[in-house]
Formats: sequence, structure tokens, C-alpha cells
Amino acid sequence: MNKKSIYLKVFRYDPSTDYAPTYKNYEIQWREGLLLLKALKDIRDNFDETLAFRDFCCGCSWCMSCLMMVNGKAIRACSRLLKAGESLLIEPLKGKPVIKDLVVDYGIKMTTPQGTFKKMEGILVKKV
Ligand code: FES
Repeated sequence: MNKKSIYLKVFRYDPSTDYAPTYKNYEIQWREGLLLLKALKDIRDNFDETLAFRDFCCGCSWCMSCLMMVNGKAIRACSRLLKAGESLLIEPLKGKPVIKDLVVDYGIKMTTPQGTFKKMEGILVKKV
């Protein structure tokens, strides 16, 4: 295990084509200040363009669109700082239907009439 790497085991599932969910392992280079959401973006941009997750919306732990399960706990991926050498299990938010991979159906309209992203209500966190 390389201390300068991060190991992510990521839930993969497309209900429209897959019989069952699988997990895919990714090893990425650690760097100071790397956030989980940025790491997922690096994977998508450099290794696997099929990986689906909600990309940065607010990017500052406000809107809650990036909620996902990390080692079994619901966290905001945009504020989860990664440590060198750690291994994480990344899964979609519990209790919500999976649209694809880490994208779940929150069951609410997530944008304002002007098209900007709005903050979700706290009920999402209470249900997980
Ligand atoms: S993108 Fe993470 S809370 Fe908004």
C-alpha cells in the first residue's frame, strides 16, 4: 500500500442496464488539501468517465447535494478532506433510490426557477 495514494471502493450501479450493484476500486494520488468530491472528479476526468455523482454545486458544505455514505456514514463529499494512505468505501446515500452510481433521487426539485441550485431540507440527513 502506497502512503501517497488513496484507495476508494466505489459503488457502481445503473438500474437501467445492470442486474445488480458492483464495487470498483480506484487508487488515486494523494495531495495536500484533496477533498473527496475533487477525488471523484479526478477519477471521472482521468480514469473512468462513466462514474456518476453530483458534481460541485455549492462546494462549501451548504447545499447538501453531495451527500453520500463514506464508510457507512452520511457525509458531504465536498468537505471531506482525504488523508494519505486511507481506504474508503463510497456508497450512495442510504434510503434514496439510486439513479446511477452515487447519484440518488432526493425526491425534491433541486433547482430554483432561475436554474440555480437550492439548499435541501434537513430531513435528508435525519432519514439516513
Ligand atoms: S456541494 Fe457539497 S454541500 Fe454543496
